[in-house]
Amino acid sequence: MPRQPRSADDTLRTGAPAVSVHDVARRAGVSLGTVSNALNRPQVVSPDTLERVRKTIDELGYVRNESARQLRAGRSRTIGLVVLDVGNPFFIDVARGVEDAANAAGLAVILCNSDASTAKEDNYLDLLEQLRVRGVLITPVDTVGPRLEAVRQRGTPVVLLDRHARNKNQSSVWVDDVLGGELAVDHLLETGHKRIAFVGGAAKVKQVEDRLKGAQRAIRRSGKVDIEFGVHVAPSLNTVGGIAAARQLLAMRPRPTAVFCVNDLIALGVLQVALEMGLRIPHDVAIVGYDDIEYAAAVSHPLSSVRQPRRLIGQTAAKLLMDEAEAGEDHRHQQIVFKPELIIRQSTDMRGKTPRA
Ligand code: RIB
Repeated sequence: MPRQPRSADDTLRTGAPAVSVHDVARRAGVSLGTVSNALNRPQVVSPDTLERVRKTIDELGYVRNESARQLRAGRSRTIGLVVLDVGNPFFIDVARGVEDAANAAGLAVILCNSDASTAKEDNYLDLLEQLRVRGVLITPVDTVGPRLEAVRQRGTPVVLLDRHARNKNQSSVWVDDVLGGELAVDHLLETGHKRIAFVGGAAKVKQVEDRLKGAQRAIRRSGKVDIEFGVHVAPSLNTVGGIAAARQLLAMRPRPTAVFCVNDLIALGVLQVALEMGLRIPHDVAIVGYDDIEYAAAVSHPLSSVRQPRRLIGQTAAKLLMDEAEAGEDHRHQQIVFKPELIIRQSTDMRGKTPRA
């Protein structure tokens, strides 16, 4: 016998808690996303599951809380953006894209810098929830854990930016970094390099891990057996980190003839040390970076780099977030991936030159 529907208004009269979508999911033994699909896209739910969810809705007397959705729609006129490093032009360019989309919708952006610290990230997430922002865009410091899920469960939409969400009920926008790493090292192999160094950072940063995977896949797929590939860890994913790593790897004998850096800031540090050492670029050492930030083309020896569509990443993520904030449970989560592009410049142009043996 189905119970009488209970909504938030019922709670005011009877004190009995309103039945939530979480109650339905728990009772039916399915995810929140499945309940949402049963309500909004029944065609994507198996008949048995659909029947079980509908039966549970009737038994519990669940009523979609339209007022909660309206409340969500009436949240502050801001969205939060939490990035790993505001000192990296990559994130500033992404933020420009976020602002393009937000401003077009009459919203402002609160930019937060986690500095790759989970403690700082948590503090900003607390603040953004207290400010009741329309939603949060975030490049997580670590893997996507319960902290972000809790923010979503409490009603603040979250879209992962520059990170691939494995959970189909979590929207994300990212670039295929494995392909990016492969493009960079394919290029170095094709220009004759056999001693190649990879300069990355903390392996916990998914972007670093994927770019290294792509580099190793390029070597494996080349079928070349005489390639020396050394992995070096920069203490930080910026120019200072690149300088520190370069002082060690460029002092090696035999020296690598090519360096693939996990981002352009590191590549700029490696370039600075190579020039200080009197090395010729690319004759003595070729350098390729990642992101293709504005400075990559502007330095004395223009850098080859794997370009990420930075502004488009920001615009796309912001639009996904605003759609979810507006649609609530009716929102169709998406995982959008962009392809990187290799931009070849002087720092790896080996035309008419052969790498040192
Ligand atoms: O934060 C480290 C790197 O990850 C940035 O340089 C950018 O490439 C991002 O994807």
